Amino acid sequence: MAQIPRREFLKAGTAALAGATLSALGLGSITASAEGVIAEKQVFVYTCPVCGKQFSDFEKLKAHFTGAHQELELPKTVTFRINNVEYDVFVEDHWTLREALIRAIGLTGNAKQMCDRGGCGSCTVLIDGKPALSCSTLAVECEGKSIETSEGIAADPEYRPLLEAYVRNDTAQCGYCTPAQFTMAKYILNKYEFAPTEEQIRLELSGNICRCGTYARHVKAITEAAAEMKGGK
Ligand code: FES
Ligand code: FES
Repeated sequence: MAQIPRREFLKAGTAALAGATLSALGLGSITASAEGVIAEKQVFVYTCPVCGKQFSDFEKLKAHFTGAHQELELPKTVTFRINNVEYDVFVEDHWTLREALIRAIGLTGNAKQMCDRGGCGSCTVLIDGKPALSCSTLAVECEGKSIETSEGIAADPEYRPLLEAYVRNDTAQCGYCTPAQFTMAKYILNKYEFAPTEEQIRLELSGNICRCGTYARHVKAITEAAAEMKGGK
């Protein structure tokens, strides 16, 4: 198969496809320009759990809460690292990590509500490097832990070949399962030292259900990324 030069990667014909995949990975607000500038920034918001008002940092949210909702007790604060940035977030005791990611921080990639009961794998994130279902993990359990989502992996220049392989192979159909499959792809690449076999990829992805049937595309994208990235390791 002809290789697309990196600088030409997102030009005209592939821009729409790239947009769909980036959007599925929770990167809809990120530029996919003719120069191939992708995943260059992450946008986080802090959302007030009472009125839904959004703020650019936690201190502003806290000031808003104590002013506008002074009759209420300040919610519990959990501190964890998300995609290598430390965050304080307001959570309620019963919130899952999935809810905290989408409701408190505004991340939408892995935090979509799918089965919400541990059956489909679409909410998979990496916690301290290991796959975990964010719909079945309480946010308060994640105090002090490091969490990776599709947004962080896609923005990491080291994983640019993986992102490119995902776009090139049109891995997103409806896109609901794609962020978790992409997150698992990073785990697989590292676990098998950038040389996973097809059988290993299929086995590792067996907990990620795709009703659109994109399984073979993920295997191909991960295999291509592994081949490209192994040389650089
Ligand atoms: S949404 Fe978490 S496993 Fe389905
Ligand atoms: S792309 Fe639709 S569920 Fe996987």
